[in-house]
Amino acid sequence: MSEISLTRYLIEEQRNDRIKPDLRLLIEVVARACKSISVAVGKGALGGVLGDAGTGNVQGEAQKKLDVLSNEILLEANAWGGHLAACASEEMDHSQPIPDMYPRGNYLLLFDPLDGSSNIDVNVSVGTIFSVLRCPDDVVQPEDEHFLQPGTAQVAAGYCIYGPSTMLVLTIGNGTHAFTLDREQGSFVMTQPNMRIPEETKEFAVNMSNQRHWEAPMQRYVGDLLAGKEGPRGKDFNMRWIASMVADVHRILTRGGIFIYPWDRKDPGKPGKLRLMYEANPMSLLVEQAGGAASDGRARMLDIAPTQLHQRVPVFLGSKGEVEAAMRYHLEHDAAAA
Ligand code: AHG
Ligand code: MN
Ligand code: MN
Repeated sequence: MSEISLTRYLIEEQRNDRIKPDLRLLIEVVARACKSISVAVGKGALGGVLGDAGTGNVQGEAQKKLDVLSNEILLEANAWGGHLAACASEEMDHSQPIPDMYPRGNYLLLFDPLDGSSNIDVNVSVGTIFSVLRCPDDVVQPEDEHFLQPGTAQVAAGYCIYGPSTMLVLTIGNGTHAFTLDREQGSFVMTQPNMRIPEETKEFAVNMSNQRHWEAPMQRYVGDLLAGKEGPRGKDFNMRWIASMVADVHRILTRGGIFIYPWDRKDPGKPGKLRLMYEANPMSLLVEQAGGAASDGRARMLDIAPTQLHQRVPVFLGSKGEVEAAMRYHLEHDAAAA
């Protein structure tokens, strides 16, 4: 069978009226920007792009040089295309409208330009996460508030993982599909159509060092996983934690598992570490489109009504049966406490 490129996939989806021409072109621009980021990440120490930028972001985190560079690549690639009205990024305090000298389009693009950036300097996979929303029809000058739409409103979501191979994983609401970058041709080739997450799993992903800070139902849930065959779950579990959400989610889309970043009392005011708009929501759409489930521990992630651009949320996502099991621990705890 002849290779299906990202371009051909998008053209065929447009021909089937599943995607509008300007959204197709927007996704092509984002994919092109990810190729540029892949080149920069791939240079490592030879590209002078490792280490800290010496600046901080709205999250209160020190920025890596590649955080800043990736952000700039995405902003520049999307400025002149005419498909976008505004961008929002983990690395920018507020959303940014497309400059006045360029035509504006009908979409809002949100991204985490470089996810897992603590792993850059130790040469572990990192990635770019993006989410696309419609710009409300009557809005000419988009502001932060116009981005505050639930995950169900996403018209496209995806990530690019810069690992041994560079892969783009995308959904436009019609399944989740993976494309591998053919570096010689410079094109993304479909290599895993219709990714499906197994309903059940024996593998969980969580940062165990926070265990003593978790709330009771989370302690009990993970305690039962660790009890293995002799415990209430009746089977042994394996653990993985890469500390790059893109890499952990890619493993789960490929072979199943549950990924958890729960609330912890280290910083009680923070509902979680991960950001709803450009980490949890795009990953949750990809996971649901692959037959998995995504929740904040109590409710469906994609139904959450956002209140702030950089708001954080607890994240449970992956194999449907396991996410539902984790939710039961939390919902039963709440019912007993009520
Ligand atoms: P980012 O590099 O964009 O800030 O995201 C890092 C996130 C996510 O990728 C990962 O799952 C999580 O931080 C890891 O957190 P810990 O270092 O606390 O394990
Ligand atoms: Mn991130
Ligand atoms: Mn980031």
